[in-house]
Amino acid sequence: MDVQTQQTDNEKRKRVFSAIKPTGNPTLGNYLGAMKYWGGMADEYDSLFAVADLHAITVAIEPKELRENTKRLFALLIAVGIDPERNVVFLQSHVRAHAELCWLLNNYTMFGEARRMTQFKEKSQKAPENVNVGLFDYPVLMAADILLYQADIVPVGDDQMQHVELCRNIAERFNNRYSPTFTMPVGKVNKVGARIYSLADPTAKMGKSNADDAGSVFILDTPDVIMRKFKRAVTDCGSEVRAGKDKPGITNLLAVYAALAGITVAQAEKEFAGSDYATFKTRVGEAAVEGLRPVRERYEKLRADDGALLELMRSGAQKAERIAYRTLEKVYKKIGFVRL
Ligand code: TRP
Repeated sequence: MDVQTQQTDNEKRKRVFSAIKPTGNPTLGNYLGAMKYWGGMADEYDSLFAVADLHAITVAIEPKELRENTKRLFALLIAVGIDPERNVVFLQSHVRAHAELCWLLNNYTMFGEARRMTQFKEKSQKAPENVNVGLFDYPVLMAADILLYQADIVPVGDDQMQHVELCRNIAERFNNRYSPTFTMPVGKVNKVGARIYSLADPTAKMGKSNADDAGSVFILDTPDVIMRKFKRAVTDCGSEVRAGKDKPGITNLLAVYAALAGITVAQAEKEFAGSDYATFKTRVGEAAVEGLRPVRERYEKLRADDGALLELMRSGAQKAERIAYRTLEKVYKKIGFVRL
C-alpha cells in the first residue's frame, strides 16, 4: 500500500469516545452492558475511553472515595480488556482542555435546553439541598468530552442519549455560527450488551451505588460473594426456566447467562430446559465467577503497583491531549480570542 492510500484509510477510521463516572462500584451490569465490549472496538475504530472524574463531583463525594474510585475504575477499564497500547485510556481531569471547552460551550448552550434534561431534574429531586451549578452544567461538560475528540460514535446507556442529543445541538449551533469545527457525533446504545437488572428486584437497574446491596454483583466481588448473591437471587412463580414478561427474575438471570456465554437468551433457555430454579441459579453464578475471574486477576496485578498505574495514566493523558488541544485551539481562534 502506498503512503497516500494508507493515509486515506487512516483518515476513514471512525473515532469512538466514551466515558464512565467513578461513582459507586462497577457491577456485572456495567460489565455485560458496556465495558466488556469496549476493548474490541479498537479493531475497527480509533477508540478513546475516559474516567469522567470531573463529572463525579456534581454529587457530594468524599475526597478519599473519589481518589479510590478513580484508580479502581481506571485499572478496571484496562482489566476488562481495553489495551492501553491500542486505545487511549485516561482521566478526564488530566486533560485540562475538558474544563476549558466546557466553559466555551456554555456560551452556546441555552438555559432552556439544559433545564429540560431529565437527569438534572431527577438528581435535583433526589438531593434538593445540593442542586449546584455543576449538576446543571453536567451535560455541557459531557459535550466537551465528546467534541474535543471529534468523535463519530459515542456508546452510552439509554439514559445518556438525551445528553448526546444536546451535544449535537451545541455542535450544530457552533458549526453554523462560525464554520464546520466539530464532527457531528452519533450516540449508540449498545445492542449487543445486555440490560441487567437487580438480583433482588428484577424491575430495577443493577445499581452501582449501594455497597452492600444483595441485588448488585460487583465486578470485583470474590467468588463466594458472587455465588451467594446468585443463589439468593429472587425468582418467579412457577418452576420453568424461561424468559417472559411474567418472569422478570428468571429473564434477568437468563440475560446474565447469555451475555456471559456469548449466546442468545433463546439458546440459554434451551440449555436450561427442564432444569429447576436452584440448579439454574448455581450455574449462572458459576458462569459469572468464571467470567469475572480473569478480570479480577488482571485488576489485582494493576493495583499492586501504584507507580506503574500512574505511568499508564500519564501516557494515556498525553495521547489524549494531543488530539484535545488541536480542537481547543481551533475553537479559541474561531470565536476570536487572541492567541499567542
Ligand atoms: N454521563 C455519562 C454517564 O453517566 C458518563 C460520561 C461523561 C460520558 N462524559 C461522557 C459518556 C462522554 C459518553 C461520552 O454514563
